[in-house]
Amino acid sequence: MTPTATGHEIAVQAENLHKSYVLGATAIGALRGVDLVVKRGEFVALMGPSGCGKTTLLNLIGATDLPSRGRLHVDGVDLSGLSDDQLADLRRDRLGIVFQFHNLIPTLTARENVELPMQFKGVADAGRRQRALSLLERVGLKDRADHQPSELSGGEQQRVAIARALANQPALVLLDEPTGDLDGATGGEIIALLRDLNRREGVTLVIATHDGSIAEQSSRIVRLRDGRIDGDAPGR
Ligand SMILES: Nc1ncnc2c1ncn2[C@@H]1O[C@H](COP(=O)(O)OP(=O)(O)O)[C@@H](O)[C@H]1O
Ligand SMILES: [Mg+2]
Repeated sequence: MTPTATGHEIAVQAENLHKSYVLGATAIGALRGVDLVVKRGEFVALMGPSGCGKTTLLNLIGATDLPSRGRLHVDGVDLSGLSDDQLADLRRDRLGIVFQFHNLIPTLTARENVELPMQFKGVADAGRRQRALSLLERVGLKDRADHQPSELSGGEQQRVAIARALANQPALVLLDEPTGDLDGATGGEIIALLRDLNRREGVTLVIATHDGSIAEQSSRIVRLRDGRIDGDAPGR
């Protein structure tokens, strides 16, 4: 459950990161020169108004999208030189990603969903089954292992998504508005889980959020505005 011992001290190093989206004749500068260093063990709340670039930044760090300009290292690896296959391996081996909703594969059980990243990595059947069950236990869902997502509440589905994100002991877990679709009490349980993962187990978190109660638990609040960093301050 703890991050890989071989991981790099610096989880994220972004230098002058730009991302433009071209729509017809216009280019939208979603990120306009972001410099950011996230160390191992940090819990970063990435905040700012809708459209400021939070999701874009997570997508670049998560290696699902490429910057237009700038340099990005994740867990010590320079993403600029990597092939698509190498980027996919990096995502599988070093990153855990949780979205606001639609995280899980609906036809698989909770356990099978958590097993999936380990299956892609080639972990043997028995080992991955055991680890999936222990991760589900960690997020308080051991007795729901055989349920499909449609049989779980929104908060339970998010717990499964968090368990799955931890499957391959990532250097970094990225979450995009993980409580945005949940009621306050359920969101609070997710936040408590994330706080424990960070404080007790040293899991590095970067969470894009509007949720002030996530920011309250974070170790650092980074504010984005119009594609630039507009504030960077300690959290709790
Ligand atoms: N795929 C895309 N194509 C064109 N524009 C996009 C795309 N994704 C995001 N944008 C634009 O980039 C800006 C930043 O968006 P986003 O990163 O989603 O912000 P946030 O997550 O903070 O709400 C917005 O102006 C948005 O409209
Ligand atoms: Mg967003």
